[in-house]
Amino acid sequence: MVESLAEIPAIEPFLEQGYVAEVINPLKSGKEASAYLCRAGRRLGRALVVAKVYHDRERRNFANAAQYTEGRVILNGQARRAVAKKTEMGRTIETAFWVDHEFEVLSNLHYTGCDVPEVFVCTEQAILMEYIGGEEGPAPQLQHAPIAPDEVPVLRDRLLGDIEQYLANDVVHGDLSAFNVLYRPGRLTVIDFPQAVDPRFNAHARRLLTRDLSNLAKYFARHGHGFDAEEHAAGLWERWRHGSV
Ligand SMILES: Nc1ncnc2c1ncn2[C@@H]1O[C@H](COP(=O)(O)OP(=O)(O)OP(=O)(O)O)[C@@H](O)[C@H]1O
Ligand SMILES: [Mg+2]
Repeated sequence: MVESLAEIPAIEPFLEQGYVAEVINPLKSGKEASAYLCRAGRRLGRALVVAKVYHDRERRNFANAAQYTEGRVILNGQARRAVAKKTEMGRTIETAFWVDHEFEVLSNLHYTGCDVPEVFVCTEQAILMEYIGGEEGPAPQLQHAPIAPDEVPVLRDRLLGDIEQYLANDVVHGDLSAFNVLYRPGRLTVIDFPQAVDPRFNAHARRLLTRDLSNLAKYFARHGHGFDAEEHAAGLWERWRHGSV
């Protein structure tokens, strides 16, 4: 809790600029970031928003980060050298890079109609986004959600459709599992995109797509509706290569 509160300065720019009126409470702390429920400022025209605040680099843990960053370049030489040397400035730039990437991916996917949180504004360390939940509390992760048996195949097909829609937009999530899907009755929202890769430029994309599908296949198999992740990935990949996703 104290650790979480220490990160709240990252929300200050949102308060100062009128995007956030008040921080209500921490929602959840993950490996890379903490989410805070906030009362929205008047300029957003909604009641609640979530600030996702990235941890400082020492506390973050993007395992094998290089596989996600392949195909991305830092054009500014000074910034590139700072990141390579891991100076303090380099660490700030690196965090900003993940934050900015997640903001861009969410923004594009939301624009094309995917069920991902709408994003409003970001700083070098935090993203302000749509709150996924209700008055009673935030939507649970699919992993922990109470699912009725007859819903399971519908949710599975829905997520497989989402993955195909991401691919149609040249996005592979890269860390998809039932933990990064939020459940509301009749609705799923996929979150947590900082590590998303572009299959046109990233040679790991095909493997990450298969891994995303395997994670979901395991969850759905436990609920009696598994599928063959390898086969599904192969089919999707072929369709993407031929421009028909
Ligand atoms: N927009 C949102 N609305 C409601 N809850 C959210 C929202 N964004 C994140 N959360 C909650 O915060 C948790 C952490 O968010 P997220 O997965 O984006 O960060 P993370 O640090 O990468 O997490 P992890 O490493 O555990 O996957 C989510 O699992 C979810 O419970
Ligand atoms: Mg997550």
